Amino acid sequence: MTSPTTTSSRAVAERPVLLQVRDMTVQFGGVTAVNGLSFDVHEGEVLSVIGPNGAGKTSAFNCITGFYKPSAGTVHFDGADVTGWRPARIAIRGVARTFQNLRLFGELSVLDNVRAGMHVRIKQNAFDAVLHTPRFRRSEQEATDEAHRWLDFVGSHGNRGAEVRNLPYGEQRRVEIARALAREPNMLLLDEPAAGLNHNEKEQLLDLLRRISSLGTSVVLIEHDMGLVMRVSERIVVLNYGKEIADGTPEQIRNDPAVIEAYLGVEDPDEADEADGPDETTDGPSEGGRP
Ligand SMILES: Nc1ncnc2c1ncn2[C@@H]1O[C@H](COP(=O)(O)OP(=O)(O)OP(=O)(O)O)[C@@H](O)[C@H]1O
Ligand SMILES: [Mg+2]
Repeated sequence: MTSPTTTSSRAVAERPVLLQVRDMTVQFGGVTAVNGLSFDVHEGEVLSVIGPNGAGKTSAFNCITGFYKPSAGTVHFDGADVTGWRPARIAIRGVARTFQNLRLFGELSVLDNVRAGMHVRIKQNAFDAVLHTPRFRRSEQEATDEAHRWLDFVGSHGNRGAEVRNLPYGEQRRVEIARALAREPNMLLLDEPAAGLNHNEKEQLLDLLRRISSLGTSVVLIEHDMGLVMRVSERIVVLNYGKEIADGTPEQIRNDPAVIEAYLGVEDPDEADEADGPDETTDGPSEGGRP
């Protein structure tokens, strides 16, 4: 993935399937967070998963990445049944993620946070590490150089020796993406990467997502910012109360009555228009904010 090669412009559906979710159900006591969810992600695809608060989006991500075990159903990734695998094993297989609430090592430097992302794939011999052999130092230097390259790639140009907890929020989000990319994943899952970003930062994020996709990495995005979702996605899956209610292109989703109803609680967009005031767009899910 380090050598940027643009993916083929073949139609998404013709590309091989990388992730296959089938009949996934997630239950917490009496709450069914995800209810019989099935969808595919193709190689190199940019797919968004959207839906109102509590629809089950993060729970679905947590099952795909091994943080939760689904109560029923399967997850296949890159030809393997990874259902119930531990997060580290799924990460080694080629899945990286970011979190709805940032999970960085606050007291470590920016650079060390990104270097930490590489440890799932860079194997170091304990003997070399203890004795600080030339081979160990060479491998450490390569990891550092690569971490710098990923920070450049995500547009993080601040002090890389600074503790990450002292950075502005938008910058921390970039570092988290750099750390995920340093794993050289086949698929990157991002849980609300635009949350808390200002307009300029969102534009930079849009550009970054496109550049990640052009490396050949599949991008799966949970996002409430519909402007971003509509511009970046090749396909959108919509959840409501844990169930998939639509799967289609941005244009199909924008005009899907079930989606409009889920977001606005009414079937007639004109009715919602009146309820929300004259300036709101009701042509499908709202753009630019949480629905
Ligand atoms: N660890 C948990 N224990 C109990 N209930 C949970 C847990 N995680 C999620 N839930 C419940 O499952 C449902 C789906 O939550 P989830 O976080 O997956 O939704 P979401 O679509 O990501 O929402 P949001 O857009 O607000 O992030 C909610 O009712 C939530 O309260
Ligand atoms: Mg969530």
